[in-house]
Amino acid sequence: MTAITFDEAFFSEAWIRDPVEPLALLQEQGSVHFSEQMKAWVVLGWEDSRAVLKSRAIGQGDRLAGYTMNLPAEDRAQLHPISEYMDRAISFLDPPEHTPERAAAAQVLDAGLGRRIEPHMRQTLAHRLDELATRDSFDATEDFALPVTVSMISSILGIRYEDRAHFVEWVERVFAYIGSPMDDPVFAEDCKDAYQSIGAYVGELFAEARAADDPEPSTLIGMFAARGEKYGLTERDIMGMTVGMVQGGFETTTTLISNTIAMLLADPDQRALVDTSPELVPSGIEEVLRLAPSLKMDARQANADVELSDATLRGGDTVVAILIAANRDPSVFARPHHFDVTRQPNPHLSFGFGTHFCLGAPLARMQARMAIEELFARFPDMRLATDELVWRPSALLRRRESVPVLTRG
Ligand code: HEM
Repeated sequence: MTAITFDEAFFSEAWIRDPVEPLALLQEQGSVHFSEQMKAWVVLGWEDSRAVLKSRAIGQGDRLAGYTMNLPAEDRAQLHPISEYMDRAISFLDPPEHTPERAAAAQVLDAGLGRRIEPHMRQTLAHRLDELATRDSFDATEDFALPVTVSMISSILGIRYEDRAHFVEWVERVFAYIGSPMDDPVFAEDCKDAYQSIGAYVGELFAEARAADDPEPSTLIGMFAARGEKYGLTERDIMGMTVGMVQGGFETTTTLISNTIAMLLADPDQRALVDTSPELVPSGIEEVLRLAPSLKMDARQANADVELSDATLRGGDTVVAILIAANRDPSVFARPHHFDVTRQPNPHLSFGFGTHFCLGAPLARMQARMAIEELFARFPDMRLATDELVWRPSALLRRRESVPVLTRG
């Protein structure tokens, strides 16, 4: 392959579905590059990516501006901000504003949550698997991973499961735009519209939770409705955080479960290892996260001048850690492109790093482990219905278009 720019490797029609090969070549030429498309520094090396995510000189800045930055000027004025709540979403705040939101979210998503929701998770899985057992084939994403994770996030946040068709569609529309070059005003308007629908819906759920006045609320919306002020959060903070969690809480986990099924079914040796030693499922899931991070990248803005490998970032510059490249850095991971369910240690960056490390990571890991264990136990003869699994053309989500499987021998 001849020399290639980051934008060709990441956004061109040839590579947008699967940029792994050109990114590995680009990484040989250096860790830090510039993307004209994102008007940002892009970081491919693991060490530099980790530094970007943990440095105090680099923060969230005005990242929401990036959502409309590539639009024609006349549309930008009308479409910014793309969401009236996201500037208060936890992921977009720097300390000290970030600190109380993170503390509140951490209390709700605490370690005990996994234990509390495990029976619900088992029941959801059993129902889903009973239904799938009546068929010879299904799509492991749409028919399994998605309904299972949507059911879980609904019960954790306090969303009505029967409304899933709506919020799944809104979130898909948001991801479709933010996984695109973000330069098409029609697409941007659709994303703004979807954010408005999520906001209006979450607002409705909060009003209902307040009216219900439950003294022992068990859902995130119920807890924040009852005790939001106790955490020192404003109405807008709570809305921003909840809209952010609706957006981030199930697509990522659906993607992880779907990728794990696809990768194990495509690799008989690794699948045999997991079949004979089910205790390898957790390290297998970490390996899927490393090779196929649900989110391919994580963006930041420099607060001041920062030196990074061979580049000097100026205050205000945007810098993006390309997780899908950092997780395959050959200086950190032996045989970086090899799928190895026994890999230990596995310091991938797919849940981020530092101040914003994913608060849902224990939950996502637990959901993925249970889903994989129960699916493979129920369908020991399961296999892929095609050798041609196609990645979505998204710059953000590392997700297959579909994962069709056959369940009988
Ligand atoms: C496989 C599944 C998941 C992946 C790959 C993932 C990935 C990430 C990443 C990369 C970040 C860091 C963002 C940044 O650096 O700006 C993050 C933050 C976050 N995630 Fe997840 N996530 C997953 C599942 C979940 C779930 C299930 C929840 C909650 C129900 C959740 C809640 C959060 C929250 C609240 C933050 C913000 C933390 C902060 O800014 O302090 N995530 N996630």
